Amino acid sequence: MIEINDKPLSNFTPREIVSELDRYIIGQTDAKRAVAIALRNRWRRQQVPDDLRDEIAPKNIIMIGPTGVGKTEIARRLARLAQAPFLKVEASKYTEVGYVGRDVESMIRDLVEISVKLVRDEETKLVKVKAQDMAEERILDILVPPPPPSFEDRPGAMPNISTTAGPVELRPETGQSPKSNATREKFRRMLRDGELDDREIELTVQDKVGFPFMQVFSTSGVEEMNMNMQDMMGSLFPKKTKSRKMKVVEALKLLAQEEAQKLIDNDKVTQSAISRAEQSGIVFIDEIDKVAGRETGHGPDVSREGVQRDLLPIVEGCTVATKYGMVNTQHILFIATGAFNVAKPSDLIPELQGRFPIRVELSSLGKEDFFRILTEPENSLTKQYIALMITERVTLEYTPDALEKVADIAADVNSRTENIGARRLHTVMEKLLEELSFKAPEMGGEKVVFTAENVKAALQDIIEDEDLSRYIL
Ligand SMILES: Nc1ncnc2c1ncn2[C@@H]1O[C@H](COP(=O)(O)OP(=O)(O)OP(=O)(O)O)[C@@H](O)[C@H]1O
Ligand SMILES: [Mg+2]
Repeated sequence: MIEINDKPLSNFTPREIVSELDRYIIGQTDAKRAVAIALRNRWRRQQVPDDLRDEIAPKNIIMIGPTGVGKTEIARRLARLAQAPFLKVEASKYTEVGYVGRDVESMIRDLVEISVKLVRDEETKLVKVKAQDMAEERILDILVPPPPPSFEDRPGAMPNISTTAGPVELRPETGQSPKSNATREKFRRMLRDGELDDREIELTVQDKVGFPFMQVFSTSGVEEMNMNMQDMMGSLFPKKTKSRKMKVVEALKLLAQEEAQKLIDNDKVTQSAISRAEQSGIVFIDEIDKVAGRETGHGPDVSREGVQRDLLPIVEGCTVATKYGMVNTQHILFIATGAFNVAKPSDLIPELQGRFPIRVELSSLGKEDFFRILTEPENSLTKQYIALMITERVTLEYTPDALEKVADIAADVNSRTENIGARRLHTVMEKLLEELSFKAPEMGGEKVVFTAENVKAALQDIIEDEDLSRYIL
């Protein structure tokens, strides 16, 4: 296993990655293979000798395919697998530098932000046990105040809490303040058993310092400046603390967080996060086709080509300033997707086309795919509805021919109206389940089985009327 800053980089083989994606996405083998190879190449690159490693640039990918066939879904699943900083953005959200809106460099800043969070979460996990111990001690300090130097059996020295436990025994052999020690241990046991969870205690917590006037900056595109200002102001003004009453369970969580923050070395987190973003970061640019098309000189198109131009250096490799430091983008993997039904990949400016050497096409989906999408994935729509109905104590079942019918209808409506791919299954299923979704709370304990007949009965009228199906399905 290869380590990047002490952390393993996903070492799945391409075959394993594809089979993992297969659990959620039907078909689209070419796209799955392409992203699997790209991911594996990151890992391979890590094992190449240093001097050569720096020469190896990732092969960026364009996924082309009609709407609703799994492009974004592949990206989402890949993100989970990658164990790497992963950012998904919509190309259409960006505007050319100089225009009002987000400039493309901000995607690198966002990627680093994600990387920081990733590393921080990992570090937090590492110190979790220790932080919890420290939080426990702090709670005990509140529940069982340490005895004053001249400890006598004064009533005030006892914690001001009514306990269900019996009187505290004196054990002379345990040191100078046996009573308080024993009490503390007794409370520790109770705390661990959750017996004190609902008790209220008063806690001094850090108050978040907010600057309402800062909002003014954040919409105007100078977000980096805004971030720096906020950091600066944050350290300029003393942190306010305030006293808050809360339950012991909440206090434990809060204090554990606070202690974890103290245990984590922020500089190390930042350094590690930047290097991770640079070495294994993946940026997924959705809807790249929306910025395709050359300059028309007016209207919203005016900055499209500009966005493409701004993307060039970032994809090729440049240095972007972030609030955590400079980030080199040379080895970041870019995966762009687009339906390209109006614009074609050849409508992208040539320089950008050249920077995405791998093209994969996703196929449009038909009846058989729909049936598989309804039945095979672990999170299939049909399983989702079953789970939702169980919350109302309604047992939902579908016969296979019912789902065949649903697949059939979805394919049919797609061909007769707009082809929206697998999203059609959502509209058809929602319509089919509408009645049940409404009535479910009143029919607890019942079992409902959908058959092909039910499906037909529920949807036939709509299917036969083309105008209706345009609106409803
Ligand atoms: N091949 C597939 N297998 C399983 N589910 C799919 C498949 N294709 C699409 N879906 C489902 O259909 C929905 C839409 O898919 P997705 O968001 O991936 O579309 P897309 O290809 O990104 O479309 P668009 O171009 O409109 O962004 C999601 O709920 C997804 O789970
Ligand atoms: Mg999409």
